[in-house]
Amino acid sequence: MTVLVTGGAGYIGSHTLVQLLEDNQQVVVIDNLSNASVESLVRVENITGKQITFYQGDVLNKALLQKIFTDHDINAVIHFAGLKAVGESVQQPLRYYENNVTGTLSLCEVMAQFDVKNLVFSSSATVYGDPASLPITEDFPTSATNPYGQSKLMVEHILNDLYRADNSWNIAVLRYFNPVGAHPSGLIGEDPNDIPNNLMPFIAQVAVGKRPSLNVWGNDYDTHDGTGVRDYIHVVDLANGHLKALQKIATKPGLVTYNLGTGNGYSVLDMVQAFEKACGKTLPYTFEPRRAGDIAACYANPSKANAELGWYASHSIDDMTKSTWHWQSNNPNGYNSQ
Ligand code: NAD
Ligand code: UD1
Repeated sequence: MTVLVTGGAGYIGSHTLVQLLEDNQQVVVIDNLSNASVESLVRVENITGKQITFYQGDVLNKALLQKIFTDHDINAVIHFAGLKAVGESVQQPLRYYENNVTGTLSLCEVMAQFDVKNLVFSSSATVYGDPASLPITEDFPTSATNPYGQSKLMVEHILNDLYRADNSWNIAVLRYFNPVGAHPSGLIGEDPNDIPNNLMPFIAQVAVGKRPSLNVWGNDYDTHDGTGVRDYIHVVDLANGHLKALQKIATKPGLVTYNLGTGNGYSVLDMVQAFEKACGKTLPYTFEPRRAGDIAACYANPSKANAELGWYASHSIDDMTKSTWHWQSNNPNGYNSQ
């Protein structure tokens, strides 16, 4: 099978490429490198000993997509390409809607033109807003509080309408919880451009000495230690969910939506403690006021993906922190560290 991977040079995309190549699939990548380095693809080739066909370009560029579909016999698409910084999306809503929504329309139009109708889409647990109860199942009501979340929700609606209009499409919508961790080789991992917004990369940069201290946003939540609770999922488990989703839509067509999470909630302080164990250092932190827009707790009920995809998250919290530390300590400046 030949899989077109949009955004394949990015964090989750690069980990998924490793598994696709190890599974002997052919891959073609399109990435505009707006939030990635081509070095990630070189490293995926080093890990797997296999070649990647890479197009540096934008999913908004239909002519380029048409060339890719003409030059390769694509069977399915995994669509990672998107902008993902919540704060930035509030500042630059048009850029987010253009990139994430119009980019997906452009992709789906060209897929339809070439009669390639197998699609796996990267959605997010952010579409559940502030859930009324926990754990979260796929039938919970959806809502969004920022343009990033709104763009994911809009694409979900578009894909549902597309399927309703033409049920020869096979679509898996995957709602990721909090992806963390890195490939066990330590060669690929998360490489944020600027000051990290997310917890794990921030902790990792404190551990490696790039940042003096962690700000813990709020210690007065209704959680076991007062700090925010999330469902952290190892990126290798997450990547595997995409292979399972491809198998699923190949064997049992339709539109399906799955939570990809572990079902376990860990607090900010749980994560700090686990990271201290992994790196053997004490990590300084201070309690600060709550971050605007944050919720107390969010974790998945992943039973639907367990039952229907035969997919299980198998990595522990220690695997997540150890692999992050392995990547971060080997590559203190990410892909610019060589
Ligand atoms: P990432 O930024 O590392 O990867 C996204 C990749 O897409 C980057 O390599 C970027 O250069 C590329 N890209 C962006 N816009 C593009 C465009 N218009 N054309 C071509 N390439 C483009 O992010 P990630 O963490 O790997 O996330 C992958 C997907 O999963 C995104 O859609 C993101 O919204 C979604 N997601 C991520 C998380 C998370 O916490 N990492 C959580 C939920 C959902
Ligand atoms: C963020 C995004 C969400 C996205 C998710 C997964 C926001 C508001 N939401 O959610 O849309 O789907 O990532 O990528 O950005 N924390 C600190 N100090 C820090 C960073 C984080 O205490 O420096 C805390 C947060 O308050 C939260 C937890 O750590 O309780 C996790 O934060 P983060 O990694 O940013 O993920 P989410 O807030 O779940």
